[in-house]
Amino acid sequence: MLRRPLLLAARSDRLRHLVETAPVSRSVVRRFVAGLDADAALGTARRLAGDGLRVTLDHLGEDTRDEEQARAVRDAYVALLRRLADDGLAAGGRVEVSVKLSAVGQALGADGERIALANAQQICSAALAAGTTVTLDMEDHTTTDSTLAVLRALRSDFPWVGAVLQAYLRRTETDCKDLATTGSRVRLCKGAYDEPASVAYTDADEVDRSYVRCLSTLVAGDGYPMIATHDPKLLDIAAALVSREGRERGTYEYQMLYGVRPEAQRRLAARGETMRVYVPYGQEWYGYLMRRLAERPANVAFFLRSLVSKG
Ligand code: FDA
Repeated sequence: MLRRPLLLAARSDRLRHLVETAPVSRSVVRRFVAGLDADAALGTARRLAGDGLRVTLDHLGEDTRDEEQARAVRDAYVALLRRLADDGLAAGGRVEVSVKLSAVGQALGADGERIALANAQQICSAALAAGTTVTLDMEDHTTTDSTLAVLRALRSDFPWVGAVLQAYLRRTETDCKDLATTGSRVRLCKGAYDEPASVAYTDADEVDRSYVRCLSTLVAGDGYPMIATHDPKLLDIAAALVSREGRERGTYEYQMLYGVRPEAQRRLAARGETMRVYVPYGQEWYGYLMRRLAERPANVAFFLRSLVSKG
């Protein structure tokens, strides 16, 4: 019931300002966000990598409104990748980065896609030099075609660039078939935006069934599936699919969000599975936090308590 208003709130500039300047408890943001700068991100990545987990770092920011801001986000990624390489964290893709194309210019009018592609190319070059990979996050459905077009263009030079597909979109089964090709890294998640029934399943069970169909296609295909869910039921099904297809460890991986079911993350890693944690950092945590609140009503109570306690 709260999902819709929270997802609408995620897009409101007025609410963003209110929440960002409210005496929000640092603990609520800290649960889901590594910190406000690259130092905090690197510290968290180092700690998680030390525990045998892989990491993907997300420099928070979306809906960039001018080219200068888009270049600043690009430069932040390039600098981060250099530091990851210097710290020995990037090699072999142990720590990679996730990029939202809207943060590097995709929403800047008719030229947006071209600007986002150019910025993403520079981020990919820096990742190549660092010895790691890049995954393109997926945003709302109006951006899917453009994001997949940028993915195709990037993959001609950087075939290891990963894509995200959202099981709640009706189109995604077809996209999974198209992307289940040799070497193709595809992160499958349920989807986190407020989408109309014309393009997305709105019933939770339907989304779950779509997730299973999509994952079956990816696991049976030739690519590298990245199973991004915290849902225990889907995790059991994923394990069964992987075993049915005779997939060896290292030909797929699990992914979860920083701060969500950390004990399950460690359990899977301890079992010898590849587990990657999605770690966001940066000043622009508002939209990300709202989507995490929308996923789980209990988080809203946690958030409201923290506003009151100012802890
Ligand atoms: P579901 O929401 O049903 O949750 C299952 C269980 O997990 C819950 O019962 C609870 O125990 C736990 N849980 C889930 N979310 C929680 C939360 N916020 N707080 C506390 N507990 C929680 N989406 C998107 O649209 N584009 C993208 O690019 C990405 N990228 C991405 C990367 C990675 C690595 C992950 C794991 C997820 C994404 N997502 C995403 C988000 C995704 O679409 C989805 O919204 C969340 O993963 C929640 O869905 P679950 O599959 O976990 O199931």
